[in-house]
Amino acid sequence: MENIQNMLSALPDLLLPWYDENKRDLPWRKNIDPYRVWVSEIMLQQTRVEAAKSYYIRFLEQLPTVRDLACCSEEKLLKLWEGLGYYSRAKNMQKGAKQILELGGFPDSAENLKKICGVGEYTAGAVASIAFGKPSPAVDGNVVRVLSRFLGDARPDKVLRPEYTTLLAPVYPEKRCGDFTQSLMELGAIVCTPRSPSCSSCPLSALCKTKGDSLPLKKEKPERKISDLTLFVFFDHKGIWLEKRESGVLNGMWQFFNTQGTLSSSDAEKYLKEKGLNHFTIGKSKSHKHVFTHLIWNMTAYPVFTQENLSSLTGFSSLQYFTKRETLGEISLPSAFRWCLSLCSF
Ligand code: ADE
Repeated sequence: MENIQNMLSALPDLLLPWYDENKRDLPWRKNIDPYRVWVSEIMLQQTRVEAAKSYYIRFLEQLPTVRDLACCSEEKLLKLWEGLGYYSRAKNMQKGAKQILELGGFPDSAENLKKICGVGEYTAGAVASIAFGKPSPAVDGNVVRVLSRFLGDARPDKVLRPEYTTLLAPVYPEKRCGDFTQSLMELGAIVCTPRSPSCSSCPLSALCKTKGDSLPLKKEKPERKISDLTLFVFFDHKGIWLEKRESGVLNGMWQFFNTQGTLSSSDAEKYLKEKGLNHFTIGKSKSHKHVFTHLIWNMTAYPVFTQENLSSLTGFSSLQYFTKRETLGEISLPSAFRWCLSLCSF
């Protein structure tokens, strides 16, 4: 352990000059305030840096302060989050924003930040170090990879994450806590990458115990439950019909009407008639697979042209009508369903 601590204490002097020279010009590095850091860290937990940039810029243009986030409609929030996935993170962030307003401002320590809805060990460390200059480590997958390779430590990620969080805290440089946090992340992102790390340009290579050997050991892939679904994309000349999900993954999000199993075209037609829909034209289906963390959906979607008022039919009463403009501009439709829009010819 002592040796580990010695090795870790060498990190700030090696990493900070490298970070000053090599850091990427990223939008959340321009204006350090706790709200902006918080938003970026929540986005970056699920999305690659390149993909997150445009979401981040748009989010902060629309919701520039923690008060704007606390007060905005859920529909607007989800629209801004559309395509990022893990929508519960956005909803938790809004709950957290309300807590922060009640507190009268952001807590400035990792310990108190963790009391905010949706803020875990990692996010608390990132905000406390980057926005408040506190020696609070933020150990994500990138940082575990950098440190486990540097130390030659083949134990699993689950063990290493809390251990590195504890061991890093005392080696934080007093004046540059935020930069130190970000230098570790940055090295993992651009040098010590998962496959083929660039050891020749790494500031840690002289001390590194593995130099590109394949650590950390691969995490086991999560076991994913596979479901087959048939979706019905009801539309007319001006709009489409959607309903809100009431359970499970994507709870509370808009979806197309659907049923379990993969129905053939004739079975799909029969199914709709049995549910009480009489006047419709069903088109050719399209299929799509969507992979969630613990779930795979194999979807088959049928375009169904109908001019009936579906919400007045018992079997379809959960559906609501949206014009094309509303659907594309205001309603948040998760990526898992968005591909279906190409089926309707309005
Ligand atoms: N990944 C997570 N947080 C990050 C940050 N602040 N900069 C770059 N990559 C990150």
